[in-house]
Amino acid sequence: NTLAQSRGKLWFGTAADIPGTAETTDTAYLDVLQKNFGEMTPANAMKFMYTEPEQNVFNFTEGDYFLDVAEKYHARVRCHNLVWVSQLSEFVTATNWTAEALTQVMKNHIFRTVQHFGRRCYSWDVVNEALSSDGTFSASVWYDTIGEDYFFLAYKYAQEALAEIGANEVKLYYNDYGIESPGPKADAVLQLVSELRERGIRIDGIGLESHFIVGETPSLADQLSTKKSFIQANLDVAITELDVRFSEAPFYTAAGQQQQATDYYTSVNSCMEAGPRCIGITVWDFDDAFSWVPSTFAGQGGADLFNDTLQAKPAYYASAEAV
Ligand code: XIL
Repeated sequence: NTLAQSRGKLWFGTAADIPGTAETTDTAYLDVLQKNFGEMTPANAMKFMYTEPEQNVFNFTEGDYFLDVAEKYHARVRCHNLVWVSQLSEFVTATNWTAEALTQVMKNHIFRTVQHFGRRCYSWDVVNEALSSDGTFSASVWYDTIGEDYFFLAYKYAQEALAEIGANEVKLYYNDYGIESPGPKADAVLQLVSELRERGIRIDGIGLESHFIVGETPSLADQLSTKKSFIQANLDVAITELDVRFSEAPFYTAAGQQQQATDYYTSVNSCMEAGPRCIGITVWDFDDAFSWVPSTFAGQGGADLFNDTLQAKPAYYASAEAV
């Protein structure tokens, strides 16, 4: 983080699953976190199922705790996320909503959550992962019930909620994977940005998740050209969830580590080369022991900057070299 900031980035950050898991009391882990990272993204604490477990019953305890830790560490926070297909509460997914009623649910969730956390958030991922690889909207309770309008309304409500509390500086982001290289999905994001602006609705930035596979990481040219196309559209960009996983064991051979280091270097470098409007780089956890990868992709892992005994890997030094 110190290096990244000295090179004009706002941060080199990490996701963290605080509180409620082993991380919260693991002092060795927290020490590495505090020393190396200047931004923290809550891996779970602010998601719908935790913040509004039952309709109009809000619980911000975990999110507040996360922010307390981040502020203690002088780390900024990308708040994550408001409207997504996953990790929803049962009352959302198990009800047969009219479009009007679900729009009210979405509006209430956005207003209450955004206004509670207020300017403690640097930014919000307002809509998360809305698109399929061909650039069309993915099926979700939001899209299936409300149609495309849900996307535009989500940003409108976030903007209005912030304006109401005088916190207009909190940035509004769209966050997704598969938009790190040129293609129909990245094009669709640009199209949605244009449509938001045509409707007079604010969007400030695009989060490029960057969940990559060792040896299959998009080239510097591809990663750079997509970032530039967003920046040309007057958007900030950020790498928001970088990790580079091994698609199969073993995870710790010398050759594998070298390739992984190259892949991290390429990705971090693309943000440096893109200039100041690539505002920062966030890894989706820095520690193999706490990575989301093994539980999501069976048999895969070793994706992070530190191994499962908290030793820095070549990827760590390559990232430091890249910034
Ligand atoms: C993941 C978390 O890391 C896991 O702990 C959770 O079980 C599932 O979600 N894209 C996103 C993140 O935008 O919210 C996801 O986080 C990883 C993929």
